[in-house]
Amino acid sequence: RGASMEKIISLCKRRGFVYQGSEIYGGLNGTWDYGPLGVELKRNIQEAWWKHMVGSHANIVGLDAAILMHPTVWKASGHVDNFSDPMVDCKACKQRFRADKIDTSALEQRICPSCNGALTEPRQFNLMFKTHLGPVADSEDNIVYLRPETAQGIFVNFKNVIDTTRQCVPFGIAQIGKAFRNEITTKNFIFRTAEFEQMEMQYFVKPGTDLAALEEWKEKRMHYYHQTLGILPENLRFHQHGKNELAHYAVDAYDIEYQYPFGWEELEGIHDRSDFDLKQHQEFSGKKIHYQDPITNEKYLPYVIETSAGLTRSVLITLMDAYEEEVLAVADDGSVSDQRVVMHFHPNIAPIMMGVFPLMKKEGLDLIAQELTAELREIFTVEYDASGAIGRRYRRMDEIGTPYCITVDHQTKEDNTVTLRFRDSMEQIRLHKDEIIPKIIQFNKA
Ligand code: GAP
Repeated sequence: RGASMEKIISLCKRRGFVYQGSEIYGGLNGTWDYGPLGVELKRNIQEAWWKHMVGSHANIVGLDAAILMHPTVWKASGHVDNFSDPMVDCKACKQRFRADKIDTSALEQRICPSCNGALTEPRQFNLMFKTHLGPVADSEDNIVYLRPETAQGIFVNFKNVIDTTRQCVPFGIAQIGKAFRNEITTKNFIFRTAEFEQMEMQYFVKPGTDLAALEEWKEKRMHYYHQTLGILPENLRFHQHGKNELAHYAVDAYDIEYQYPFGWEELEGIHDRSDFDLKQHQEFSGKKIHYQDPITNEKYLPYVIETSAGLTRSVLITLMDAYEEEVLAVADDGSVSDQRVVMHFHPNIAPIMMGVFPLMKKEGLDLIAQELTAELREIFTVEYDASGAIGRRYRRMDEIGTPYCITVDHQTKEDNTVTLRFRDSMEQIRLHKDEIIPKIIQFNKA
């Protein structure tokens, strides 16, 4: 299991998971478009996360805040002053680097890691994209930012949510949406992009109970990656932030890291943000947004434990983790005589749940298979495929990670049974076509 970046990028393009953004114009740095299979995978991950948060916790509610927010939000949150990375430019080759990501001795000597040319002094570069609200673009008064995190939409609605729901601390607010960062370097395919999606949950707790909540959410989130997304445990680990790594809002933070082909890097951040954000918004807005305990009447600003996952980054890890080039047969001389590419997606997220094939297009088998497809489509994502040898059709489904294939053959006309083939084991069983839906639901739960 696992693949190089080149293999994943090539599969994504060949099978319609991810395309380069604005490709016919030569592409636009840091942007990618999700094709028919990529969008299904992304939606499935999104739904699995929503179910894990809002669906299975009575004390977590959802929100969908606007991307554009009042500019003072970003003053209060500290992003205008602090959300920046140190940048250096090479005077010779003109490449740009994040100063904290290049070799320390190269940085100290100001030598370009790419061409050995001279580097500029590091300077802070703010990552927020600026634009203007309204028709006049030359005024400082109408500057707005594209949000660099979804979290602030949750903080500014904290009071609205407690006033309009019956939630009591501890409770959480969950949100999925686009975020934008003018990253100094965008690279590694969809790992770090200018436009991406986040799935964030802010869990509001009584001060003093935050450390226990941080531990609780660390465990729940790791469990989700193993059980819900089916990620191999050996590819995931925690990394606690050292004092110099902490974001400006965090008092303690852990990353869930994934073992990418380019090394261990962040997948999700789990942060103890204390009452930093609520306090700042209370001060900058002049509005009281404290919480009042309904039993003790105690008033306070809750602390926040945040779980911040990248949706587009989750797409990348599910693709990489699922990939296998499986050897099926070896010749007498030891060379590989048969192999397949198979994506072992967990059925929760597989873009297509099943393929339905007539063994041949003739003798009414295609009509039976089309009818069955229409029936199954009411519940699952189904791809109908009637062309080519049956073995080739199975391999195409393996390559896009379809867990089940149903084949309609001559016997179906006699007794309404079909074959059901399992992607991972390639085993086949025969069952009545009315049994398909309950059986698949049962297999997916197991
Ligand atoms: N609200 C906290 C926050 O935004 P973060 O660690 O900066 O924390 C959280 O980001 C997650 O968002 C990351 O773990 C990553 O999955 C995703 N992410 C951040 N920047 C990204 C980028 N440029 N491209 C793709 N995903 C990104």
